[in-house]
Amino acid sequence: MNESLVSLDDVSYGYDPNRPVLNRCNFRLDRGERVGLVGANGSGKTTLLKLIVGLLRPADGRIEIFGQTRQCERDFHEVRRRVGFLFQDSDDQLFCPTVAEDVAFGPLNLGKTRDEAWHIVAATLDALGLNGFEQRITYKLSGGEKRMVALASVLSMHPEVLLLDEPTAGLDDAAADRVLEVLSELPQAMILATHDPRLLDRLATRRLQLNEGRFLAETTRI
Ligand SMILES: Nc1ncnc2c1ncn2[C@@H]1O[C@H](COP(=O)(O)OP(=O)(O)OP(=O)(O)O)[C@@H](O)[C@H]1O
Ligand SMILES: [Mg+2]
Repeated sequence: MNESLVSLDDVSYGYDPNRPVLNRCNFRLDRGERVGLVGANGSGKTTLLKLIVGLLRPADGRIEIFGQTRQCERDFHEVRRRVGFLFQDSDDQLFCPTVAEDVAFGPLNLGKTRDEAWHIVAATLDALGLNGFEQRITYKLSGGEKRMVALASVLSMHPEVLLLDEPTAGLDDAAADRVLEVLSELPQAMILATHDPRLLDRLATRRLQLNEGRFLAETTRI
């Protein structure tokens, strides 16, 4: 099948109806793409990602994911199983007492056995350089550590599409490099909302800039 993974047609949204954040915005994500989503603070990057997973509903326009129009809560249940979303704020993502439980939560929820889930946890933590973090208390981690664990909890679900909201924000260079390396080896399509020039230069296959509720004409295709 040749359809887009994600397709937004003339989507509008505003938290305050008098101040639109997205204004008849159009967007496509195809297989194998890594789209760098850029734009000033407050331009609507996070809002766009939340619309794709149904955490917000458009005032107008059409959202199609995996070839199906998505409108009601039920439509988005399947989307959230298949699309991994890294929140901009890691505290929104992590809710278990320990790192291992947080990273195992997704796989267990998807029906993996405990053995399978622990195997995935170990492999995911290892890939991100988080060996030995299994029993660490999540809420006591540093901001950068939380970010890495949040990413592990998304990757452990092996989602078909990744929506990553500022995946390297607050990370030191070594951690950011590991994230870049891990992401560059993944076959999944992804949207990277980011201000990090390294991610944009080394990972994104194209770059889209949000401005006043829409995308500026695409200028960069790497
Ligand atoms: N929960 C909310 N209630 C009201 N307004 C909101 C809410 N969340 C975001 N906004 C507003 O919507 C606009 C877009 O916010 P959004 O978080 O999507 O921007 P962003 O491009 O992700 O910015 P950043 O680069 O700072 O992460 C901003 O003006 C913001 O103040
Ligand atoms: Mg944001």
